[in-house]
Amino acid sequence: MGLPPYRNEPYLDWSDEENVEKMRAALKKVGERLGESYPLIIGGKPVETEGEIVSVNPADPPQVVGRVGRATEREADRALEAATRAFEWWSRSDPEARARILLKASAIMKRRRFELLAWEVYEGGKPWAEADAQVAEAIDFLEYYAREMLRLKDGKEVYSVAGEESRYFYQPLGVGVIIAPWNFPTAILTGMSSAAIVTGNTIVMKPSEYTSVIGAQVADIFREAGLPEGVCNFCPGYGSEIGDYLVSDPRTRFISFTGSMRTGLRINELAARQRPAQRWIKRVIAEMGGKDAMIVDASADLESAAQDLIISAYGYAGQKCSAASRAIIHQDVYDEVLQKVVEKARALNVGAPESPEVFVGPVISEPQFEKVTGYIEIGKGEGERVLGEDPNSPEKGYFIPPTVYAEVDPRARIAQEEIFGPVLSVIRARDFDEALRIANDSPYGLTGGVYSGDREHLERARHEFKAGNLYFNRKITGALVGVQPFGGFDMSGTDSKAGGPDYLPLHMQAKTVVERF
Ligand code: NAD
Ligand code: ALA
Repeated sequence: MGLPPYRNEPYLDWSDEENVEKMRAALKKVGERLGESYPLIIGGKPVETEGEIVSVNPADPPQVVGRVGRATEREADRALEAATRAFEWWSRSDPEARARILLKASAIMKRRRFELLAWEVYEGGKPWAEADAQVAEAIDFLEYYAREMLRLKDGKEVYSVAGEESRYFYQPLGVGVIIAPWNFPTAILTGMSSAAIVTGNTIVMKPSEYTSVIGAQVADIFREAGLPEGVCNFCPGYGSEIGDYLVSDPRTRFISFTGSMRTGLRINELAARQRPAQRWIKRVIAEMGGKDAMIVDASADLESAAQDLIISAYGYAGQKCSAASRAIIHQDVYDEVLQKVVEKARALNVGAPESPEVFVGPVISEPQFEKVTGYIEIGKGEGERVLGEDPNSPEKGYFIPPTVYAEVDPRARIAQEEIFGPVLSVIRARDFDEALRIANDSPYGLTGGVYSGDREHLERARHEFKAGNLYFNRKITGALVGVQPFGGFDMSGTDSKAGGPDYLPLHMQAKTVVERF
């Protein structure tokens, strides 16, 4: 199959007035579609449900973005059944033909790019650049996994003994349950689903209850790309209502999950129990939370460090598993860096993401607003609030101003627990040794960063900093597919490295066949 070499989808240039105009037009057009209903899609057929998920705009909660079917165990059962039936023939389909469907889906996403961005703005509360990076990432996943499947379709080379042929190749696993979070609703849902599908599995696709309208768009793109009925069964619903059922069912062969540590651990535990009629050990691919740290060393470029701390801490209002939520700063430069961070954070444009200038939008939901506000309260007893004020009441949007706590003890709750909001804890370290110790003192191990001009310190961190994705002298968010494979250590997950060369094999089983001649 002749394909151009893989390259990341370029981001849109918002200084180009034409792009701004297209985005405004898309916001208007999608704005006219707000409030529409989306059924489940099982075996290719729309399925209505008694209940519904009402999805709202986090920047303007009275505005209903869409009404989405709300699966119960009955629909979850039907979705698993449809996926089980489809697996019989989809698992035998040509890998090249499967890869073509991903390429087609990528082309559709490129054509519908501004529309998808508009959905991100309305349902995810995403500022434009964040929405764009996310849709570009979804396109990257499709392009990258299509090529990865072509690379893996004939298996891998192994040695043979004389007079024999040894073959080593991959086969699909079975029915996968895809459970996605709300914070990258296009990219992560597309990435997890496309990897499972291109490797010959069938799926039950469960988006987050907060971004199910975007989930419906992704499912529709797969349909438009020619994915046969029953391969992707769109099954939105509340995790608390159908999650355990989908995970525990004996027809489920694997679970691909991205979300919080709490949910990931529950899934892992439930999946480990064998149910009657279950014939396999379920595989769990789980990417979970983070409490990510950036160390600023005495020798760092302080201006650049402060700038990248701001981008890493407050991009998408800190609602990234990769976000910098701990700044660990060498005592010699602590005051200067803190001052720069506060100045830059104060200058950030906070508001409803209606224009390209907004950098910090709302948090996703009322529960998330309450959770972050709760941590801001806790922080008052644990550090010195040097930026931020108490948020306004949430009726007019779930906005939380960028907040900085200084002189935070490394063992404080705001320095240990994932807040998932625009709150940065700044910690003072005596020297680089202590900074590294503090960074590693966390159950998580997702991303991390070191700003330093000291080669020896960077080389130590390369091996000793506990993080699946470690970045030197740059921001720590926004991993690029195919360039910075993504996944965390310890309580951050199974280190699956989405967007990397080891990802697709997690969705397959390797087989060795030997023939003696
Ligand atoms: P969440 O765990 O609340 O929900 C994630 C998904 O799990 C949702 O679809 C939800 O409906 C479902 N779910 C809830 N209970 C379930 C159950 N009992 N069984 C099965 N599914 C269930 O997480 P969230 O709030 O949607 O997302 C934010 C979290 O995701 C943060 O912790 C963040 O760090 C993490 N995250 C991690 C990565 C990564 O790659 N490591 C990427 C993005 C987000
Ligand atoms: N992959 C996303 C990032 O790196 C979470 O920010």
